[in-house]
Amino acid sequence: MTRRVAVVGAGPSGLFAAQALLNTADVEVDIFDRLPTPFGLLRYGVAPDHESIKGIAGVLARVFDSDRVRFRGLVELGRDVTVDELKAGYDAVIYAAGASEDRRMEIPGESLLGSRSAREFVAWYSGHPDATPQTLRGVRTVVIAGVGNVAVDVARILLKPAEELSATDMPRAVLDELAAAEIGDVWVVGRRGPEHASFTTTELRELVSPADVEVEVAGVDLATIDATLLDRRTRANVATLAEAVSRPIEDPRARLHFLFWHRPIRLVGQGEVEHVTVERTVAAGPGAVDCTGELSTIEAQLVLRAIGYRGIPLPGVPFDAATGRIPNAEGRVIDETGRPRPGEYAVGWIKRGPIGVIGTNKADAAETVAHLVTDLADAPRRDLVDLDAVLAARGFAPSTLADWQRIDAAEQSRGEASGRERAKIDAWHELLDLVRLGRAGGPPSAADGGVG
Ligand SMILES: Cc1cc2nc3c(=O)[nH]c(=O)nc-3n(C[C@H](O)[C@H](O)[C@H](O)COP(=O)(O)OP(=O)(O)OC[C@H]3O[C@@H](n4cnc5c(N)ncnc54)[C@H](O)[C@@H]3O)c2cc1C
Ligand SMILES: NC(=O)c1ccc[n+]([C@@H]2O[C@H](COP(=O)([O-])OP(=O)(O)OC[C@H]3O[C@@H](n4cnc5c(N)ncnc54)[C@H](OP(=O)(O)O)[C@@H]3O)[C@@H](O)[C@H]2O)c1
Repeated sequence: MTRRVAVVGAGPSGLFAAQALLNTADVEVDIFDRLPTPFGLLRYGVAPDHESIKGIAGVLARVFDSDRVRFRGLVELGRDVTVDELKAGYDAVIYAAGASEDRRMEIPGESLLGSRSAREFVAWYSGHPDATPQTLRGVRTVVIAGVGNVAVDVARILLKPAEELSATDMPRAVLDELAAAEIGDVWVVGRRGPEHASFTTTELRELVSPADVEVEVAGVDLATIDATLLDRRTRANVATLAEAVSRPIEDPRARLHFLFWHRPIRLVGQGEVEHVTVERTVAAGPGAVDCTGELSTIEAQLVLRAIGYRGIPLPGVPFDAATGRIPNAEGRVIDETGRPRPGEYAVGWIKRGPIGVIGTNKADAAETVAHLVTDLADAPRRDLVDLDAVLAARGFAPSTLADWQRIDAAEQSRGEASGRERAKIDAWHELLDLVRLGRAGGPPSAADGGVG
């Protein structure tokens, strides 16, 4: 009897895990996602103007070529199925649900209008169906908190001329909003120095490269940083910043300010953000900063915190709220006593936290799958429940690979109409209509996403 494995989450880590399973074991794999579309943050996080990285989707999608793999979309663990149902239907379950929330700065004024997370902003320009429409009307200055690659992505998108974005797959309404924006200044604020920033040099170079954007570095004298103490990446980052600030730019279209050794401590305004109070910081040992009480103010209408994503608990699955991860030992989910929970595994950002590029998830998934395969060899065979039948009894059928292919084709033809490769469909009702197109005369849709 072939063993059956459920993967919860069709992002990079879930798809890498499925591929590793196919390569190492005689298993059938069902990949569940709450969306009718696979690829997770590769589709809804990776910047739309980074087409070559987006192209990794073609490689990841090869896993669906196997007749041992099925895509089961519109199924959310905790809403449409429970952990117990998955465990009854499969020999093993792999949680690959990523990190779908974000960290907060926990400072006064963070809930004012005009204060948002980079995650929300990215979800909007990526056409995520859950995203809240963002408005840039009246925004002249943006402050971005954090100096990682997400901060760099967001700054680049905000500073890019509309005509350079028009070829991307962004939904039409997003392109129109960005084209109408009149942003003159973007501040990128790091609580430590440029030598500690986590952005990568390629991304930084791309951000500072436009010949009509003036770059300023404040809060630090780059010349005082001892390059001999730095690793290759951080040395190249500091050199890139030094080169960018030395470039004379006449009549700049916009200004990009890096402010290091500062942290926002307060967002101020009458109902909406009008300015940000920042405090100078000083080093206080590895990774830590001390406050100085020296305050200054940046006038801004939009503040985006890009200080990290955060995992959220999956109902019925152990969760470490401090780290936002599922507690695990090399991918084996463990209980509060540290013992493995038989048949439960984790991969990707929900396993190790919201750090790492797409490729990082491949080795990570391989580690988890190696343990799963070892455990499965010793696990007793059980009669498994047919989860499709359980869901059908509730009038609910997951969406399929064919449904995703219909959405994919519709996005491509929508793109063609506007001279682009793809135009994202960002409305739930349109996605669900495309799923329903594949169901002649099926039962009506379940309340929240599931389609009969
Ligand atoms: C803004 C941004 C830009 C990035 N750009 C790059 C880049 O250019 N290059 C690069 O290499 N890396 C990039 N990364 C990193 C990369 O996206 C991650 O390493 C990778 O996506 C993590 O994969 P994952 O599968 O763990 O999570 P995710 O990609 O988040 O996938 C998780 C999946 O689980 C699903 N899910 C969540 N909860 C449930 C549930 N309860 N039930 C069912 N399904 C569920 C979600 O819908 C999603 O499809 C970027 C990350 C971000 C945030
Ligand atoms: N093009 C790409 O390859 C690409 C694009 C986007 C994302 N990614 C990857 O996705 C992962 C996540 O990226 P990310 O940018 O979200 O995370 P990140 O690299 O961890 O950066 C988070 C930033 O937020 C700062 N920060 C955290 N808490 C803060 C606070 N309370 N106040 C002020 N600043 C705070 C951190 O500073 P400290 O260092 O001081 O903590 C850091 O500068 C990374 O591995 C990244 O490389 C890759």
